[in-house]
Amino acid sequence: MHNEQEKRREAAEYAKENGPLTQEDHYYPGYHIAPPVGLLNDPNGWIQWGGRFHLFYQWMPFSTGHGAKYWAHVTSDNLVDWQFEAPALVPGDWFDQNGCYSGSAISMNGQLYVFYTGNVKDVKGERHSYQCSAVSTDGVNFTKEGVRADVPSLFTQHFRDPKLWKANGKWYMVVGAQTKDLHGAVAWFESEDLDLWEYRNTLIEGLGYMCECPDFFTLNGQEVLLVSPQGLVPQGRDYNNQYQSGYIIGTLDYEFGEFSGGGFTEIDRGFEFYAPQTMNDELGRRILIGWMGMPGDEKYHPTQKHGWMHQLTLPRELIFEKGFLQQKPVEELTQLRQGEGKKQYVDGNVEFNVPFTAELYINSPGDKLAVSIFQYAKLTYSPAEKLLTLERPKLNGKGTETRSVEIPGGLDNIRIYLDYSSIEIFVNEGETVFSSRMFADPAVSACLIEGKAELTVWELEQGRMKFSI
Ligand code: FRU
Repeated sequence: MHNEQEKRREAAEYAKENGPLTQEDHYYPGYHIAPPVGLLNDPNGWIQWGGRFHLFYQWMPFSTGHGAKYWAHVTSDNLVDWQFEAPALVPGDWFDQNGCYSGSAISMNGQLYVFYTGNVKDVKGERHSYQCSAVSTDGVNFTKEGVRADVPSLFTQHFRDPKLWKANGKWYMVVGAQTKDLHGAVAWFESEDLDLWEYRNTLIEGLGYMCECPDFFTLNGQEVLLVSPQGLVPQGRDYNNQYQSGYIIGTLDYEFGEFSGGGFTEIDRGFEFYAPQTMNDELGRRILIGWMGMPGDEKYHPTQKHGWMHQLTLPRELIFEKGFLQQKPVEELTQLRQGEGKKQYVDGNVEFNVPFTAELYINSPGDKLAVSIFQYAKLTYSPAEKLLTLERPKLNGKGTETRSVEIPGGLDNIRIYLDYSSIEIFVNEGETVFSSRMFADPAVSACLIEGKAELTVWELEQGRMKFSI
């Protein structure tokens, strides 16, 4: 028996002791969710429960590497003030000894349930995957309930990240999977009571070699499968990151157990975005949060030497009105604005200083437009091709890299959120979004606009994340 309470205490103490120094790092975010120390990856268990928002994330408390993950826990009443809570899940039982991997949360009979993947490496180094649950009556203390579903024989042990929802009086679960012939797939289960789970079918099969972190929801009458596949081959401007996240619009026939969908569309076009998860809040909004990270270049992140790695994106409301998903920063974020925005009309080359935590709104652009941030990131719109390009230095220091997207209807407006080492760009009210980390020289606070536009800048309040437990 491992001592869960002891491990929770150890992680919380370590964070308390080492957090303050870590958070002094210039690159530490002022208003995004980041780990107090250690490494963060996927958002998990995203839910509004009894009015309060609960968000969990994959956490390595003691190092900036990956490994036996904990579930860190943060809560909020308003999506801008966040409280760090005791870790909800710590690894160490026979079914999760090498990590409490990603999963989701649901509410049933007044209790908060989390479903997650127990990751196990046996003595031969072979992987075993168990879909497990834990339950809480107070939203803070969780009791593990053990294994709920095994891996059906069609799949390898790369089988993880359960996401649950309720429909027609039954519970459903999608799980990220790999078929035995090494194709990425999404497995689909059904349950009457959360106890017994019956495997129904795959929703999709053949997307890369592995699908992670699936999510399934209905928005404005349309069913959407969100998924993070690995192994897609770059095609022109698409699929240029190490791994992708995107969605398939389709229809799920619950009776016959079949999903018929269209093509896969990348949901974010920046350099760092992966494993997003959504939930429906009490106002009926579908809110997405993603990991603003990407495995691969981690060794080049300067935050590593300050004992932390990665952050989450802002919460974004999803809209489905025009046949594709739009993402809008949630309304609550306007509470971070310090006073009236400073407005100016720009014509020519205009340089201006911007706080490290800021919101920029650029509208009525002339034909050509380029926006440079802290001499690091540069966003350029070229009207001839209706192409928007984000450029930054490669994290390994060797040259620059770009991501480009066609904006078929032309450029109307750009909203940019800056937070020390991140940039989130919402184009045309979130029709296209770029999320990226940004490690600019701390001495530079200048931005430059080349072209014609109306610019509004707000300084954003920081420090509304409370780490004291
Ligand atoms: C995605 C992922 C998930 C897994 C988790 C482990 O980033 O690989 O599939 O559950 O991270 O931390």
